[in-house]
Amino acid sequence: MRTETLSVHLGNEPDPATGAVAPPIHLATTFRHGPSGERIAGYEYQREGNPTNDRLRAALAALEGGEEALVFASGMAAMTTLLESMPNGARILIPDDCYTGLRMLCEEYLPQRGIAAIPVDMSDAEAVRAACAQPVALLWIETPSNPRMKISDLAVLADIGRAVGALVVADNTFATPMLQRPLALGADIVMHSTTKYFGGHSDVLGGALIFAKRDDLYAKTAHRLHITGASMAPFNAWLTLRGCRSLGARMAMHCANARRVAEFLASRPEIERVNWPGLPAHAGHAVAAKQMRDFGGMMSIELRDGREAALAMASKVRIFTNATSLGGCESLIEHRASVEGATPRSPQNLLRISVGLEHADDLIGDLRQALD
Ligand SMILES: Cc1ncc(COP(=O)(O)O)c(C=O)c1O
Repeated sequence: MRTETLSVHLGNEPDPATGAVAPPIHLATTFRHGPSGERIAGYEYQREGNPTNDRLRAALAALEGGEEALVFASGMAAMTTLLESMPNGARILIPDDCYTGLRMLCEEYLPQRGIAAIPVDMSDAEAVRAACAQPVALLWIETPSNPRMKISDLAVLADIGRAVGALVVADNTFATPMLQRPLALGADIVMHSTTKYFGGHSDVLGGALIFAKRDDLYAKTAHRLHITGASMAPFNAWLTLRGCRSLGARMAMHCANARRVAEFLASRPEIERVNWPGLPAHAGHAVAAKQMRDFGGMMSIELRDGREAALAMASKVRIFTNATSLGGCESLIEHRASVEGATPRSPQNLLRISVGLEHADDLIGDLRQALD
């Protein structure tokens, strides 16, 4: 079955007790057990597992082609829980362009355990190979990257990582399994901020790790999640499951709208660069075309006249909303450098755009009037 079909049905199987076509939400924090603690229906305590989260876990594992999935309170909780499994003193590689939260985690917390996170240009396989000359415990890939939309070759990097015994992790938040499946290309683990496209409506926070194998690392990460309490709330799991049902349709429209918007922006003299991998001029276009089914709804643009021009454009939009995050129905625009804390990495002339599900003509009209 195709991913679109799976996403409609997985985890959404009719409730066996009532036949309800939408799954029930189990909000219980605790489950009846026998006098000696024997589990009766497989569950004990919400933080350690519950039927609603299990539906979502099964759906995510199948969609990404993994044997297991764990769900977390947020994408950052998923990321943190996984990185906590790195031994003290480990050396890991992260993309030079990546979600700010990962960078901050690596700069502010991992050094306390002697873990060195080395930023590498992951769109340059030779740079990654060179960085692997010294021991590497983990290779973190984000493609397309946030916010510069750099493309890394998943199959090539997974080979490089495997050859040196590194765990290969791919943040698949921007692409979703509708467009790209990193486990099939050799990654060990896929990470998601389900807050974005899976949730799809800017109203539910969540994160996930999908494991290629039901292995020791999976078991240890599940235990760590249960003990540290980074679990997803069942209500959030239920909303995210609901998002799964329309993920295929939404992604198709996000991609189609993004193509129209990117082509329009590329035609404007005020824009120096449109970072959307579907454009043939994008440095990563060929690799993206090889490993993605379509190019996604995220892009960033760099304005020729710098920060002031970027801020002026962001202040004039009417349909786009100035807000952080991405993957919702509504189109968002954001001057990333303004929201990246004390040491922003994004260029001052960059605006990140999450293309939503409005009519493409209206979106283009809005951008046109903001530039004119
Ligand atoms: C690519 C990417 N990964 C991870 C995260 C973090 O996820 P969350 O906000 O759900 O903690 C984000 C958030 O913007 C993101 O864009």
